[in-house]
Amino acid sequence: MRKSIIIGNWKMNKLSKEAIDFVKAVDGNLHDGADFGIAPTYTALAAAREHASNLIVAAQNVHYQPSGAYTGEISIEMLKELNVEWVILGHSERRQYFNETDAEINKKVKACLEHGLTPIVCVGELLEEFEAGKTEEVVRRQVHDCLVGVEGNVQSIVVAYEPVWAIGTGKSATVEIAQNTCALVRDELKKVFNEEVAEAIRIQYGGSVKPSNIKEYMAQPDIDGALIGGASLKVDSFLEIVEAVK
Ligand code: PGA
Repeated sequence: MRKSIIIGNWKMNKLSKEAIDFVKAVDGNLHDGADFGIAPTYTALAAAREHASNLIVAAQNVHYQPSGAYTGEISIEMLKELNVEWVILGHSERRQYFNETDAEINKKVKACLEHGLTPIVCVGELLEEFEAGKTEEVVRRQVHDCLVGVEGNVQSIVVAYEPVWAIGTGKSATVEIAQNTCALVRDELKKVFNEEVAEAIRIQYGGSVKPSNIKEYMAQPDIDGALIGGASLKVDSFLEIVEAVK
């Protein structure tokens, strides 16, 4: 039985003080029906981590090298120093605006598993790929190329399917599209790893998830959670989501 996992991706939002206020309001109001977490910016990670007892605190990116001349980057050890044990990798905004490739994401996933950080690996097609009927081809390729050759506690990996055209647009994918694509993500995981691992890995849907639609996604057999941007920023809306997945 896969435990549901809901993560709020805060992107470039919230100062440390705002993160603390959020954690104080939310951390005591969770339940055991799912894992819940937030991904603050680097500068708010320490503050969020310090105040969170129940919430997972994830970074939004990490470098695969242990140290060195990589101006502006953060290493796995630096996150672990803050007791941050989770990280989002390969978000479409990292791919789109910072040219992150599947090959780099693959190196990051390998480094994370090697050093005990749990990755949430994002995949998803662009609008033009969706319109050209290339969703399956693109998503299978991303899952394969991001995860091929990864060893260690591979069951702990979380995969987030986020169609790029549904992120921040208010245009969420239909439940049918989300379920079908998450099912093919799982099928590709079988090929990359094996059936047992594919059945254990949790797959999230992301893209305009909100309190009013999360239930229908979560009712799907291959959707084990959600990666949520906009609707995760406000305490009220986050708690409505918590309530909805009870
Ligand atoms: P959204 O963002 O919920 O605001 O669409 C999702 C994401 O980018 O992870």
